[in-house]
Amino acid sequence: MTTPAITANGLRKSYGDKVVLDGIDLTVREGTVFALLGPNGAGKTTAVKILSTLISAGPGSGEIRVGGHDLAADPQAARAAIGVTGQFSAVDGLITGEENMLLMADLHHLSKGEGRRVTAELLERFDLVEAAKKPASTYSGGMKRRLDIAMTLVGDPRIIFLDEPTTGLDPRSRHNMWQIIRELVTGGVTVFLTTQYLEEADELADRIAVLNNGRIAAEGTAEELKRLIPGGHVRLRFSDPHAYRTAASALGDVAQDDEALALQIPNDGSQRELRSILDRLDAAGIEADELTVHTPDLDDVFFALTATTVPAQTTQPKENAR
Ligand SMILES: Nc1ncnc2c1ncn2[C@@H]1O[C@H](COP(=O)(O)OP(=O)(O)O)[C@@H](O)[C@H]1O
Ligand SMILES: [Mg+2]
Repeated sequence: MTTPAITANGLRKSYGDKVVLDGIDLTVREGTVFALLGPNGAGKTTAVKILSTLISAGPGSGEIRVGGHDLAADPQAARAAIGVTGQFSAVDGLITGEENMLLMADLHHLSKGEGRRVTAELLERFDLVEAAKKPASTYSGGMKRRLDIAMTLVGDPRIIFLDEPTTGLDPRSRHNMWQIIRELVTGGVTVFLTTQYLEEADELADRIAVLNNGRIAAEGTAEELKRLIPGGHVRLRFSDPHAYRTAASALGDVAQDDEALALQIPNDGSQRELRSILDRLDAAGIEADELTVHTPDLDDVFFALTATTVPAQTTQPKENAR
């Protein structure tokens, strides 16, 4: 087992009477993507700021280690291991993309030559060569985010924090950003990501923590989180009442909707369970007119976990035709 890239125990932070983080525990393995998922105001940026040493943790917080270093004892060493791309861009619009990069290289005390080399390499990698000599204020949203990440990488960090890297981006730029993040991880970088988008966490993250009311409401892989809530099923619809009744008796334990001639069979969405249903139908010589698989997705999980006034059971199941 290698040392985790990030660990936090009982992380707390309040502003006045307002408790933002109410004792959260986090572990991020090296070389993985960890997504902190939560709605606006959940405390994601606050967590990123604490873990990246921009603000201090509140009283009563337990130990926080980043890159193997205790934040309280040696923030400087932790800082050397990380890069932060904030929710609000660090890009200076008045100067060019290249100048932004060179400024960053200066901040990292790179020599002039080294700064130029790293800048050229990163501008190339993030497809910003053409735009390099233009003021950053003329860049599109996606270009600004790419420049922002390029600037973060100047210091060659092992751990990077990306605070809502795709909020406000169009779908193409979002997919570009996802590709960039995947490549970073392939290169061995650990990514701590915050997002409001379930799809994004599902796409990218090895582990996801759902932040709600100052606490981690659930944590695990996307698959584990989806398994937390029931509701996976297969729905079969028939037009022939005889086929419908035969299927019902062949399949055994099913919910019947006599009016719609539909059967609902609990199912975890796995290939094996699906095949067993189809095998039993085949054996009985029946063909359904329509088959849909409902797998609970992260949206279901999210709403179930973060529902405060509406009980989880009343969230509308979504039917995904397959
Ligand atoms: N410097 C601050 N002073 C007072 N309240 C703050 C400060 N920073 C954040 N907050 C409050 O803390 C809560 C969490 O904010 P934030 O961490 O930015 O959430 P998120 O990034 O998930 O949207 C919000 O209610 C916000 O208003
Ligand atoms: Mg935020």
